Amino acid sequence: MQSILGIESSCDETGVAIYRPDGGIVAELVYTQADHAAYGGVVPELASRDHVRKLPGMIRELLDQASLSPDELGAVAYTAGPGLAGALLVGASTGVALARALDIPAIAVHHMEGHLLSPLLEANAPAFPFLALLVSGGHTMLVEVAGLGRYRLLGETLDDAAGEAFDKTARLLGLGYPGGPEVARLAEQGDPERFDFPRPMVNRPGLDFSFSGLKTHTRELVERSEKADHADIAAGFERAVVDTLVIKCKRALKQARLKRLVIAGGVSANQRLRQALDRALPGQVFYPRPSLCTDNGAMIAHAGWYRRHEGRRDGLIAVRPRWPLE
Ligand code: KG4
Ligand code: ZN
Repeated sequence: MQSILGIESSCDETGVAIYRPDGGIVAELVYTQADHAAYGGVVPELASRDHVRKLPGMIRELLDQASLSPDELGAVAYTAGPGLAGALLVGASTGVALARALDIPAIAVHHMEGHLLSPLLEANAPAFPFLALLVSGGHTMLVEVAGLGRYRLLGETLDDAAGEAFDKTARLLGLGYPGGPEVARLAEQGDPERFDFPRPMVNRPGLDFSFSGLKTHTRELVERSEKADHADIAAGFERAVVDTLVIKCKRALKQARLKRLVIAGGVSANQRLRQALDRALPGQVFYPRPSLCTDNGAMIAHAGWYRRHEGRRDGLIAVRPRWPLE
């Protein structure tokens, strides 16, 4: 198997990478679009246009970095969904066109499967089966992973995703986008115990999540407090999200009788979440390095390698903005 080019363009990161089964990630580039910060969230049309502007040059630069010529590629993997339709189409049409021109397979990858398998890129990779907590800007899911492609959804968010809750809290506190890293930074200076925050749905059985109540609670708190209180609010909010995720992970591991937990997706870069999970489940938790937590091309190239037998040769360009993982 030769090198696989991975293309990620489902949201506001343009990611490209080359993965080789015998050499790991050979080269990678990620460009994070900056224009959205002014709007407090991703503007789909701006995202598509920025992918169009960036992607061709990034692929050229990537091949240079890897000292590869295009005809040394064995396949092209691209994110086919879920995500923003226009943004997905840029990566899909680029990927399929390139594969067709080179007469190699184009592999449609599920974005969340890319996240889910990303801890397998690390030296300390977990063996199947494991539980996966996928926490990103668009999803919060607990998935029982029996093996490749054998996924069972155990729980998910009923409203906002965990990353979305971080982004909305950041906006309430007047911080930038994406909000997760900004809230985490401010929280470092705060006292997480000063204000009471709910731990949504932990007293009810089941493995679903709900973060919209926490957001409302935060909004009310921000409205009756001052700027000087913001660090304590950020810390209290972060602690509430982390506690909720830890409680549900422990419950899910027990229920599914699993020993290993994988966390992936943008929010898994959160240091307080990692520390809390390590404390609660010593030796049982596996994560990708922080640069592989947020959206990137390497996880798509890597998942594409696992799915290499499903390459499409018909040249059809199809994306699935809503695509269940199971
Ligand atoms: O996986 P990702 O890059 O994109 C999606 O697939 O959605 O996740 C982005 C999300 C954003 O909501 C961002 O605020 C959050 O991940 N995030 C974090 C941190 N870094 C990124 N949330 C909490 N703490 C962080 N350090
Ligand atoms: Zn993602």
